[in-house]
Amino acid sequence: MRATRNIVILTGAGVSAESGIATFRGPGGLWEGHRVEDVCTPEALRADPALVHRFYDLRRAALAGVVPNAAHHALATLDRDWAGGLLIVTQNVDDLHERAGATRLLHIHGALGSALCAACGARAPQTGALPPGSRCDSCGSAALRPDIVFFGEIPYEMDRIVEAIGACDLFVSIGTSGAVYPAAGFVEWANDRGAATIELNLERSAGSEQFDESRLGPASELVPAWVAEILAGQ
Ligand code: APR
Repeated sequence: MRATRNIVILTGAGVSAESGIATFRGPGGLWEGHRVEDVCTPEALRADPALVHRFYDLRRAALAGVVPNAAHHALATLDRDWAGGLLIVTQNVDDLHERAGATRLLHIHGALGSALCAACGARAPQTGALPPGSRCDSCGSAALRPDIVFFGEIPYEMDRIVEAIGACDLFVSIGTSGAVYPAAGFVEWANDRGAATIELNLERSAGSEQFDESRLGPASELVPAWVAEILAGQ
């Protein structure tokens, strides 16, 4: 296997599952009785802003009751100790990677801890409830919304992701079902680039066949073991 210098890691809801944050497509994958698709679209926001804002207010409030698990901590250790290139692309909107200490990180689907102005595009940190009609400090419009990428909207920081995958030797997918694009297609880009590809997941994901290797089990066990392995080979 070629020497590993630059790593791209994609994480999904499975990396936060053992912290107590429900995944989207598992047996318990309903939020307050809602399918994510019903409260994560521009149409839903237009049709019932109070429902959508409340949905994310509840998820934001729930962050106070959860903590990073061993998988988040292991990735933060890798971030600190890995001398080569590293980018953690998380699909999650929770803040557990940050709270564990990861810094080389981006949220492709947005973050609960941020509010977005639909009028001017300004972002601001958001901790408490964000009622519809909240005013933007930058432009004054009553247009703040959850800073979440809804289905049908453009994922964030794609240029940075394309560049990182274009330069990676190793692509690792952790705790994601491979159900949602473009993230589900990243393994294909990595393969085209000749990178090694590995999946760490509770069960085989939709794209499992595209990985050189699949390790099945809970992230809190697989991720620390993998990080120890990769750092030992550094
Ligand atoms: N350890 C490892 N993997 C786990 C664990 C665990 N403890 N628990 C669940 N998983 C795996 C499941 O097997 C599944 O493959 O995590 C994956 C979770 O899949 P989803 O619920 O579909 O979540 P995700 O892949 O992150 O969804 C992607 O879809 O709803 C949109 O924008 C939302 O970011 C989300 C995107």
